[in-house]
Amino acid sequence: MSLPSRVFITEVAPRDGLQNEKQPVSTDVKVELCERLLAAGVRQLEATSFVSPKWVPQMADAADVMARLPRPAGVTVSVLTPNMKGFEAALACGADEVVIFAAASEAFSMRNINCSIAESIERFRPVAQAAKAHRLRLRAAVSVAFGCPYQGEVPVASVVDVSARLRDLGCDEIGIADTIGVGTAAHVARVFDAVTRAVPLEQLSGHFHDTYGQAVANVVASLQSGVFRFDSSIAGLGGCPYAKGATGNVATEDVVYLMHGLGIETGLDLDRLVDTGQWISAQLGRRSQSRAGNALAARRQREIETT
Ligand code: HMG
Ligand code: MG
Repeated sequence: MSLPSRVFITEVAPRDGLQNEKQPVSTDVKVELCERLLAAGVRQLEATSFVSPKWVPQMADAADVMARLPRPAGVTVSVLTPNMKGFEAALACGADEVVIFAAASEAFSMRNINCSIAESIERFRPVAQAAKAHRLRLRAAVSVAFGCPYQGEVPVASVVDVSARLRDLGCDEIGIADTIGVGTAAHVARVFDAVTRAVPLEQLSGHFHDTYGQAVANVVASLQSGVFRFDSSIAGLGGCPYAKGATGNVATEDVVYLMHGLGIETGLDLDRLVDTGQWISAQLGRRSQSRAGNALAARRQREIETT
């Protein structure tokens, strides 16, 4: 099958990446991370989330982060909004896109947003209407689409059902998310094959966590299914506080290395991404989880040492 000539990557590190950090990350570091990502060519930036600070204390400075972000033309800045309170905050700070997030399992929906799937859809309805009224882009995520930490297996039919309900709310994009990183390539093909019967391919994106080392393979499987929108996170940061044991997102550096190797345009500057991945990892006091990022940084270091 033919692969796309260009993919669109949403950088989620400032939100999905940092929300899972146990130690508080300063607003300065969050803002500098966003600045560096924008300088590396990021055009879709998931900057923060307007969720309850009691549930996710790391995101409590969302309004400050938004106030201090550079906002170059052509960049879509998105934020998570679980309810109207979140939406109003997002609107006040000039977000371009709001993200609602539903789960494909009842158990995860309760743990993550404290309501059933059906209740969550009703809670998102006014958010969707307000987004349309204010001409904001509306994106959705379908969590635990490949497996749930509480329920185990998640039927493909549940993923299709939730995706269709989000489509009916008028979402511009629906991300199919492997929150706990358990999916494998054939599973990805099955899920996209089924979901594309309900939602046009152009509106779908893939959001993969790398817990079982399958994330890059799952990106390739998605490409083969025709998907050309992906979420990724610099240095492979990330995880959901309500999905214990799940590790980071697929690393942006790894996805970009893959895409450029396949001759697929990303609009991103890999060298600058590598720098940013190394920088944020140093800020957080740990090694980057990006295999390509670490390999490229090590190669650079060798080149410096031999010249
Ligand atoms: P609740 O406790 O049922 O809601 O939480 P509530 O309406 O009773 O509110 C409780 C308190 O939170 C109240 O404050 C509200 O005002 C406040 P109090 O009166 O007690 O002082 N509150 C808010 N504050 C700021 N912004 C808001 C907001 N809403 C209420 N928007 C709620 C329900 C949805 C709020 C809560 O469960 C929550 O915030 N959950 C978010 C969990 C979360 O952020 N999870 C991680 C993101 S999802 C993810 O990572 C998956 C993804 O990456 C894709 C994938 O990989 O799967 C997207
Ligand atoms: Mg995630």
